[in-house]
Amino acid sequence: MGGGGKGSHAIIASSLDPIPTAGRRFTGGRGLFITFEGPEGSGKSTQLLSLAARLRQQGWAVLETAEPGGTPIGLQIRRVLLDAKNRELRPTTELLLMFAARAQNVDQWILPALSDGQIVLCDRFTDSTLVYQGVGRGLGSEVVYELDRIACRGLAPDLTLVIDIDAETGLERAKLRNREENAIETRMEDQEAAFHARVREAYRRLAEDEPERVRLIEGDRPIKVVAEAVWAQVEPLLARRASP
Ligand code: TMP
Repeated sequence: MGGGGKGSHAIIASSLDPIPTAGRRFTGGRGLFITFEGPEGSGKSTQLLSLAARLRQQGWAVLETAEPGGTPIGLQIRRVLLDAKNRELRPTTELLLMFAARAQNVDQWILPALSDGQIVLCDRFTDSTLVYQGVGRGLGSEVVYELDRIACRGLAPDLTLVIDIDAETGLERAKLRNREENAIETRMEDQEAAFHARVREAYRRLAEDEPERVRLIEGDRPIKVVAEAVWAQVEPLLARRASP
């Protein structure tokens, strides 16, 4: 991902690779949909990769995807959304493009994988739009729910892991990474500190409002410790699924 700001992280899912299905474990019935959320620099993408590897080691069939991005078309939309040069992009345009990328991802990858019984791990989903555009940009939640109904057609995550981090600490991490990678997809990180503080608070409120689905995980700890906290949330869901 040269200039993408995410190092080797697959904004386009590795699931396009022809992974042999023989010997893979499927969840039985509808698959499992797990999303990762968090402010800038929370480490959620690293955690998603680590969870995908652990699940695959156990033989589970996993699709990794990300938003905005995911599909090849979503990736083109991502470039428009995150290119630091696009300073004139309006909040409503931003909102609609986020959902355009999501609609493509839901239709092309996520729903087919779920009907196939796979575990889908998505790096951000509608909760990001709720906190970044709904709260951060002040567009409100109603319009987000309305577009979600159109783009996702009732699809909601079974589990959402919010990797929580102090907004300033996370932003410093993200900016350091961007500098190291010479990233150009920095339009969101370039927003003012107050914007990122609103985002972080909105995530924390979301976890309070929907404790069944949304779990807050303290991100300012060693990667392995956070990974264990992630696993502790995911394992019980697997136990209820089909075994090999
Ligand atoms: P990423 O760096 O985690 O891939 O996310 C890209 C940026 O896009 C990040 O700043 C969060 C932002 N974003 C939104 O503002 N709304 C959304 O709906 C999504 C999915 C991401």
